[in-house]
Amino acid sequence: MSCTVVVGTQWGDEGKGKVIDLLAAEADVVVRFQGGGNAGHTVHVGDEKYVMHLVPCGILHPGRVNVIGNGVVVDPVDLVAEIDGLEKRGISVAGRLFISEIAHVTLPYHRRMDEAREALRGEGKIGTTHRGIGPTYSDKFGRVGIRMADLLDEDLFTAKVRKNLEEKNTFFRSYFGVPEVTEREVLDPYRKYMPRLKDMIVDTIPLLGKSLADGRRMLLEGAQGSMLDVDFGTYPYVTASNPTAGGACTGSGVPPTAIDSVIGVIKAYITRVGAGPFPTELPAEEEERLRLRGREYGATTGRPRRCGWFDAVVARRAAAVNGLTSLAVTKLDVLDQLDRIPVCVAYEYRGARLTEFPPRTEMAAECRPVYEEMPGWKTDTTGARRYEDLPAGARAYLKRLEELTGTRIGIVSVGPRRDETIRISG
Ligand code: IMP
Repeated sequence: MSCTVVVGTQWGDEGKGKVIDLLAAEADVVVRFQGGGNAGHTVHVGDEKYVMHLVPCGILHPGRVNVIGNGVVVDPVDLVAEIDGLEKRGISVAGRLFISEIAHVTLPYHRRMDEAREALRGEGKIGTTHRGIGPTYSDKFGRVGIRMADLLDEDLFTAKVRKNLEEKNTFFRSYFGVPEVTEREVLDPYRKYMPRLKDMIVDTIPLLGKSLADGRRMLLEGAQGSMLDVDFGTYPYVTASNPTAGGACTGSGVPPTAIDSVIGVIKAYITRVGAGPFPTELPAEEEERLRLRGREYGATTGRPRRCGWFDAVVARRAAAVNGLTSLAVTKLDVLDQLDRIPVCVAYEYRGARLTEFPPRTEMAAECRPVYEEMPGWKTDTTGARRYEDLPAGARAYLKRLEELTGTRIGIVSVGPRRDETIRISG
């Protein structure tokens, strides 16, 4: 049996898509366990580029079974558009994409709420993706959510929508001052997408249980990153789910005892989209250079990402809360031409040295990075395929990251393509 969880260790955008795609080649079943259409997992297959939002990356590998787990929030309109896009490119999902019947559904009023709340936050804006993620999870925990199984019964679905709209529209009208959402806005798309989705909505627990019992190899695909976790991240500047390893269990129904490895994807530097504390964020000019070199623009929103140097304080936090068994370091090649590479080893907070990420966001916002500088290697690494192919400077950099995080590196990515990868056996 093998069951691997892949999580982001920073603020998302670590290059999980590529790593999951690599590992999916060695798996039978791939399960997304949290988040929704806010994710954008980029995968390069030959000259083709795919950006996956809701469909697990395993779909790009023929014969793999793909499951959208109960912890995911699904906007059915977006899901059908994504499936259409894949099918147009010759990738069929029939018989190998399943959606948990207890996954919650994102509806037009969730998006409206997301936008309305963000607009009202003004200066304190989170910078959400406007995909309705927070409001869908709020409804889930508020026990007024609509689940995929509800979609299978039009009368039940309509009654639940009607009830919810009464409450939502009162807020839209009287508090937010935005247009109400009509029943038609919810039901018209429903009648179009349901014929496409109904056969995929199943009880995924027995499906996954049987896969494990049969010794099939399972990959649990996380989205976003540990620092965006609603519990462990820089609250309230976080997403509304648990992108950390614990979320893999609650978001799929796969028990903790079935999991045997947790791989943390970590960029050789760090980025963040949206607002919130970011101790190693670079000054504008330096940031722009790194952004251009790393092509750091959001896969879902196209927004320029904030960029900074590798932050070992963040990485250690991620290693702790995820129980990482190894790291997959991505985008090492982006650092190829630098003379010196700063690595943040601790923070300075009001004269004190901190080695743990401060749980209070107000404190994190005041932290200044304490850097140690590593010499650059000034050599193109994109052709390296074995660890020994890397220049000594790059190997020293990776070694230092292992020391600082207390976690061994198992994968190094030196370019977007599948073959631009180094595997290091443990
Ligand atoms: P939400 O998930 O749309 O509610 O956005 C909350 C925060 O998470 C914002 O700062 C977003 O930019 C960030 N976020 C959400 N999804 C991703 C992702 O896939 N990559 C990076 N940041 C994300």
